[in-house]
Amino acid sequence: MILKIGKFFISAVIFAVISAVSVSAFASSGSSLFSSEGCVACHTINGNGGQVGPNLSHIGSQRSLSWIKTQIVNPGAHFASGSAVTINGKSYMAIMPNHKSMPASKVNAIAGYLESLK
Ligand code: HEC
Repeated sequence: MILKIGKFFISAVIFAVISAVSVSAFASSGSSLFSSEGCVACHTINGNGGQVGPNLSHIGSQRSLSWIKTQIVNPGAHFASGSAVTINGKSYMAIMPNHKSMPASKVNAIAGYLESLK
């Protein structure tokens, strides 16, 4: 009996450690995905990136998590594709590509990262 509780306790500790490690990996992967998925070519964060789309350095104080997820997957839901749009007083051509085939895990990680930029 004591042995069983001991095993359970050890597996619970191992599980907690693994979850803690994967949660922190999840949090950091949003920023690396922002580069590896090509977002950085068009968007600047903290001085790094392109100018084709809006600066996202403070996007988390302007848009909600779910709004950002929708923007990544289907920007046409917010901005008519190819039209001229004004965001934060600047004018852009709405040419952001959709990411309909991006796995939800990646969408969630990038959106979570952007939402944290206040
Ligand atoms: C080819 C350039 C381009 C790429 C690549 C691109 N975007 Fe955009 N993005 C834009 C443009 C232009 C807009 C303005 C609205 C639109 O086009 O839908 C925009 C708008 C946004 C907005 C809304 C900004 C605001 O202030 O409301 C977010 C958030 C965003 N993009 C995130 C991303 C993410 C995340 C990626 C990568 C997965 C990405 N974008 C890839 C060009 C791009």
